[in-house]
Amino acid sequence: MSEEKVYAVPADIAAKTHVNAEQYAAMYQRSIDDPEGFWAEQAENFVTWSKPWDKVMDYSFDADNLYIKWFDGGKLNVAENCLDRHLETRGDQVAIIWEGDNPEEDRKITYRELHEEVSKLANVFKSRGVKKGDRVCIYLPMIPEAAVAMLACTRIGAVHSIVFGGFSPDSLRDRVLDSECKLVITSDESVRGGRHIPLKKNADTALTECPNVDTLVVVRRTGGNVEWTEGRDLWYDEAMAAASADCPAEPMDAEDPLFILYTSGSTGKPKGVLHTTGGYLVYAAMTHKYTFDYQDGEVYWCTADVGWVTGHTYIVYGPLANGATSVMFEGIPNYPDMSRFWEVVDKHNVSIFYTAPTAIRSLMRAGEEPVKKTSRKSLRVLGSVGEPINPEAWEWYHNVVGDGRCPIVDTWWQTETGGHLITPLPGATPLKPGSASRPFFGVLPALVDPAEGTPIEGQGEGALVLTRPWPAMMRTVYGDHQRFIDTYFKQYPGNYFTGDGARRDADGYYWITGRIDDVLNVSGHRLGTAEIESALVLHPHVAEAAVVGYPHDLKGQGIYAYVTPMAGVEANDALKKELVALVRGEIGPIATVDIIQWSPGLPKTRSGKIMRRILRKIAANEIDSLGDTSTLADPTVVNDLIDNRANR
Ligand code: PRX
Repeated sequence: MSEEKVYAVPADIAAKTHVNAEQYAAMYQRSIDDPEGFWAEQAENFVTWSKPWDKVMDYSFDADNLYIKWFDGGKLNVAENCLDRHLETRGDQVAIIWEGDNPEEDRKITYRELHEEVSKLANVFKSRGVKKGDRVCIYLPMIPEAAVAMLACTRIGAVHSIVFGGFSPDSLRDRVLDSECKLVITSDESVRGGRHIPLKKNADTALTECPNVDTLVVVRRTGGNVEWTEGRDLWYDEAMAAASADCPAEPMDAEDPLFILYTSGSTGKPKGVLHTTGGYLVYAAMTHKYTFDYQDGEVYWCTADVGWVTGHTYIVYGPLANGATSVMFEGIPNYPDMSRFWEVVDKHNVSIFYTAPTAIRSLMRAGEEPVKKTSRKSLRVLGSVGEPINPEAWEWYHNVVGDGRCPIVDTWWQTETGGHLITPLPGATPLKPGSASRPFFGVLPALVDPAEGTPIEGQGEGALVLTRPWPAMMRTVYGDHQRFIDTYFKQYPGNYFTGDGARRDADGYYWITGRIDDVLNVSGHRLGTAEIESALVLHPHVAEAAVVGYPHDLKGQGIYAYVTPMAGVEANDALKKELVALVRGEIGPIATVDIIQWSPGLPKTRSGKIMRRILRKIAANEIDSLGDTSTLADPTVVNDLIDNRANR
């Protein structure tokens, strides 16, 4: 091992792991040499099929003839795999432990109860005319009904599109319209950190412009006041009380759509990433078991929101397919105080804990005491996801939270990939703080020189691509297949381009360096610079705007906006406040602009293209390495931008 700091696999983990180092090496080799044989075995192991597939994998990464199919011809139902098949052996085992925002509220739901609830809601959906292939939008907080709604869709073959509860009415409307949803499910309010957020009101606002939606199902979470649209709105509890608990699961083709999830790209509006049924479920279950070394009977907790892909794959589908006990947490890490995560770990005896670096960094600031006053003896494996974890935060997570006992799996993946692609395995991989380490089974990453497009062998740094498909990869952008091809398969022909840069060290470990396209990662949330710019220029006093990311201690990246006001407008702090509020209102509170710099001019090439490279350098205070500015139409604008850059 070439890097200085390496943590060996702990002996107690190695002693009872599903995959040790030798097994990883052999299984990985097999997965590359004989993918069809390897994946056929995994698909048999992890999923129950009602009809076997005709062909394990079939694909072409050629941009002119792009297609990806896994287990084609096979039939299965996801809800049946996550619920029905467990009833005989573990019907009375807890499937979901719900921990409310208020530490005094919690709920345990067994597989049998979940099965009943899902079947009833599936019947409610059917009674409102939802059929196989129809889209249903889920706009719910972190309450068990979110998982129930997901599984109810899959039971009848409807395609869910979850919109994170923190998104604004406009974002919700855009997503509902783009995927042509006919039913939306929400709650009266959501609760986070003791504050109530009016979800139903947001949904009402969004739906004024969504003529396709004929039903809004409303879960009573707080009992807060809501307005009511007769004929359209339906209380969840009332509808459920009248529904039958008998709903046969619809057999689905492996390649039938399972869900759509919107995510931000470099350009334009967020795109609807489409995942299909068979490959996704195989991969979700398999990665959940091996990446976390999940052992039967353990309590597993992923702190993500179901509005993000992490919540889809690693709160609901992976764990439930494996018959695990999955914790679902409504609250936030610092409410009622900074010990909350660890109190919950002790309360529910959590063995595996999976969170984001941004949470770790903010807890780290509060010192060790809030952690150390809890036991955390039940913890065995820790996980990280969403952004690069800086070695300092990694060490704190390892030493303070895990008392130096628990391996950290730093899982690199994306909404598009459906599941982990590069990650350590607890019983197999020596750890290097800050490295996502090695590829998962069947995954063939490669690095490409971004300028030349040539492959980089051995040690080096470049654009991260995948040279082969894996079962859970996205199949298309909903309603825009050309955008799928253009975004992922045009830059490096024959490869899927991730948008990330990475370095490979002498041991073959990958170190993700972050996005190399115009996508920001703010507190682990993905935002397109183009979306934020479009929101800013809605303001009548704004002529032009350019947004870049800059290094931020807590958020990983902060949002830095260069804004050119209209001629004659007084560019003052009041206008800055309006702009920050405007962007939050358009997208949601995750899009809070950190810094606005008034910029009379932006650095443009002679053809009018903004040179973001320069803006990124100025925002990062790296003015000594601006690079070549001679191709700018007016190089003097750069001096003004440097002189007036924000103090940090
Ligand atoms: O830049 C990478 C970063 O998050 C991006 C994907 O964001 P999203 O689709 O929202 O999915 C987040 C949850 C999977 C990636 O392109 N990213 C995610 N995990 C890591 C990471 N960067 C470094 N290390 C990670 N472990």
